[in-house]
Amino acid sequence: MTDSTNETRPTGVGSGQAGALAGQIVVVIGGTMGIGYETARSARAAGADVIVTGRDPDRVQKAGSELGAISTAAFDATDDERLADFFRGLPKQVDHVMVTAGGSYYAPLAEMDLEKVRRSFDEHFVLTINVARAAITAVRPGGSLIFISGTAARHPVVGLSIAGFFSVGLPALTADLALELAPIRVNLLGAGFVDTPLSASLLGDGLDARRAELARTLPIRRVVQPQDVAALAVHLMTNTALTGGTYDVDGGQQLLVER
Ligand SMILES: NC(=O)c1ccc[n+]([C@@H]2O[C@H](COP(=O)([O-])OP(=O)(O)OC[C@H]3O[C@@H](n4cnc5c(N)ncnc54)[C@H](OP(=O)(O)O)[C@@H]3O)[C@@H](O)[C@H]2O)c1
Repeated sequence: MTDSTNETRPTGVGSGQAGALAGQIVVVIGGTMGIGYETARSARAAGADVIVTGRDPDRVQKAGSELGAISTAAFDATDDERLADFFRGLPKQVDHVMVTAGGSYYAPLAEMDLEKVRRSFDEHFVLTINVARAAITAVRPGGSLIFISGTAARHPVVGLSIAGFFSVGLPALTADLALELAPIRVNLLGAGFVDTPLSASLLGDGLDARRAELARTLPIRRVVQPQDVAALAVHLMTNTALTGGTYDVDGGQQLLVER
């Protein structure tokens, strides 16, 4: 008989992943909240040492101490020089780098703020290039890079054009980087709605209604949690056959007509 409670639980680090990252170092750029924080927590549960970064120094300090991070750094990852300094300052080569820094910019054409458009390019395109270049010396051969994008914006929706651009462009960039950085592996996560502080800030008072709608309509009949994404990220770190791919973790959101 199926245990129905299991079906509605978010994913955690399973017994297959315990110890899978023992002796390895995982860096999470944007690891003080949301998906990045949970990835750092899951990597710790799988035995890794973690290094987390974020902009807000208090959040960095709090997350670092909760996670037992071996080091932390507070800087804006879109600052090219600060990012390069961070990688140069690592004590030795690391095993995996996950990038979850950045936000989401939604606006219809007439309301687009070009500064915010450029900021999105810095967060989701230039940051990817910068991390990939730093990885050549900072990440050990056979280690991995993980970036994140979205699945909902793959379908045209007014207001999602910037997110849509990245959701179809980043898989191509990921595949190119996997060839160019080999034997370092490079993969991309495609998330739908994930219940994080970012989603809360974007939805404001509409958050609970959106959660309820997704719990009713998603094929998995529950909202995707940061732990679900983190479990897949740890899998991408440990499964050495995976490179150049985009892996969706959206509870089937992209299959719905009304997303
Ligand atoms: N949540 C979703 O539904 C969803 C869906 C698809 C894709 N994504 C993408 O997944 C990534 C993570 O999302 P999330 O929901 O986990 O976001 P979140 O809850 O806002 O967490 C983002 C983390 O990154 C840090 N950060 C943000 N901008 C940064 C910057 N410029 N430099 C350094 N650190 C920075 C934040 O700390 P500070 O603010 O202190 O810097 C925080 O630790 C984002 O790129 C987002 O676009 C999210």
